[in-house]
Amino acid sequence: MFYFLLVILSVSVADGWSDNRQRRFKDDFLFGTASASYQVEGAWDADGKSESIWDRYVHSRPKLSPDGDVACDSYHQISRDVQMLRELGVDFYRFSIAWTRVLPSGFPNKIKEKGLQYYHNLVDELLKYNIQPMVTLYHFDLPQSLQDLGGWTNPLSITWFEDYARVIFENFASKVPHFITINQPNTVCVDGYGGDNFAPGINSLGVGDYLCVKHVMLAHAKAYRLYEKEFKTKHQGSVGIAISVNWIEPINNQTENVEAAEVAREFSIGLYVNPIWSKEGDFPALVKERVAAKSKEQGFLTSRLPTFTPEEKDLLKGSSDFLGMNHYTTGLAQPSAAKYPSPSFLDDMSVDFTQSLDWVQGTSPWLKSAPFGLYKSCLYLNKQYGYPTIIITEHGWSTNLGRKDPSRVDNLRAYLTALLFAIEDGTVVKGYTAWSLMDNVEWGAGVSERFGLYEVDFNSQNRHRSPRVSAHVYKRIIEQRVVEDTWRPTSLKMEVSTRRTGKNKSEL
Ligand code: NOJ
Repeated sequence: MFYFLLVILSVSVADGWSDNRQRRFKDDFLFGTASASYQVEGAWDADGKSESIWDRYVHSRPKLSPDGDVACDSYHQISRDVQMLRELGVDFYRFSIAWTRVLPSGFPNKIKEKGLQYYHNLVDELLKYNIQPMVTLYHFDLPQSLQDLGGWTNPLSITWFEDYARVIFENFASKVPHFITINQPNTVCVDGYGGDNFAPGINSLGVGDYLCVKHVMLAHAKAYRLYEKEFKTKHQGSVGIAISVNWIEPINNQTENVEAAEVAREFSIGLYVNPIWSKEGDFPALVKERVAAKSKEQGFLTSRLPTFTPEEKDLLKGSSDFLGMNHYTTGLAQPSAAKYPSPSFLDDMSVDFTQSLDWVQGTSPWLKSAPFGLYKSCLYLNKQYGYPTIIITEHGWSTNLGRKDPSRVDNLRAYLTALLFAIEDGTVVKGYTAWSLMDNVEWGAGVSERFGLYEVDFNSQNRHRSPRVSAHVYKRIIEQRVVEDTWRPTSLKMEVSTRRTGKNKSEL
């Protein structure tokens, strides 16, 4: 019966959830937009900033273009960036701090005042207009000096991060209500250490990736506990983690495919959610068993997936005030036919993914629109983890150049509608974050994939920003609290939203 209902629901979602009721976002639901330091700041070596793993990665690969050196020049454009947020009328802005700008050695022995000042100026400008800052401490840009010591595969990285977090909390806890410790641990670890297509590109398949996962999760927990112990009583802020929760659906109802989807969810979602939101405070049992069995077959004396001590499990359990959910797309799972290198994360999981030909394609090769996946992801988290408090910390769509972006408008509307249904069905969602405020450096893909509500002219000296149609549509949704099917702006000229002026925003 339940499954039957889900099928009906997924059909209606695919159709645009067409029933006659008008659903609306409550007045205290928060809307925001996001960026990340490497993707927008530029000024890669200005004012004593040191080299990050992304600077090194891009500069040492002639095939990659060094778009991040200047990026959107946000380091010099605070007032324009905040102006755009005022135009949109958002409640909060999620941005990240570059560790290398604040602590060039990676350690707190030398704090760069100029680096700190940039973030103080940005935060102050946001607060001036009543826009809440939501600060990500780590969005992929580790100091290269720490990478030279093994980066996240070194257990000391837990302390390095905790020390860095302390500097950030000491400086910003009085002004910043929401912190995100780490962005997308799966990308940091499985892509960065278990592959070579993402910085630092270590390619330690099935070993370095899991070491990294253990340390990143503990680094998060330590930073959370630090805030809880020393800053929370005074400042009352919240601290969470942003996890990539894309949906995984079986390709059809055959048992083996249903099982493959479940395995893939545990490997790609549970690995990060389970340690914090389960009673055990540990990696999912299924992942532990699989990796242990494979490791044994491969001649390892212990599992390649490291374990947590009882104290570490206690540290992890409940170490988040909200589950930051980055959601973009859906994959269709079946048992793997391909032979993956052994050992490797992909071999351990042994699931292949495809996407439906019926789903609209973004410019990013991995990105297709399947709004029912957001609905199902929410219900899955509710069921597995007892209705955690969720903030959608990223969702977005990539296009080409051009200010008319009907596919982004459709995607935004369809996913926000799916979110309204998920909320109606009990999901506790406090806010939604559109990725991204403006076009920016999409990591190895450079500026070719455009995720912005604002278009950026990367050929102009000041990286001129102009609103797309989707920026107007998002502004209107924030104002009206409903998703309209047909509304379009009559002109692309943007003015500051009247909604923002003098309104007191509630907390998450
Ligand atoms: C998630 C990442 O956090 C962000 O940096 C990236 O630009 C988007 N996905 C789009 O790929």
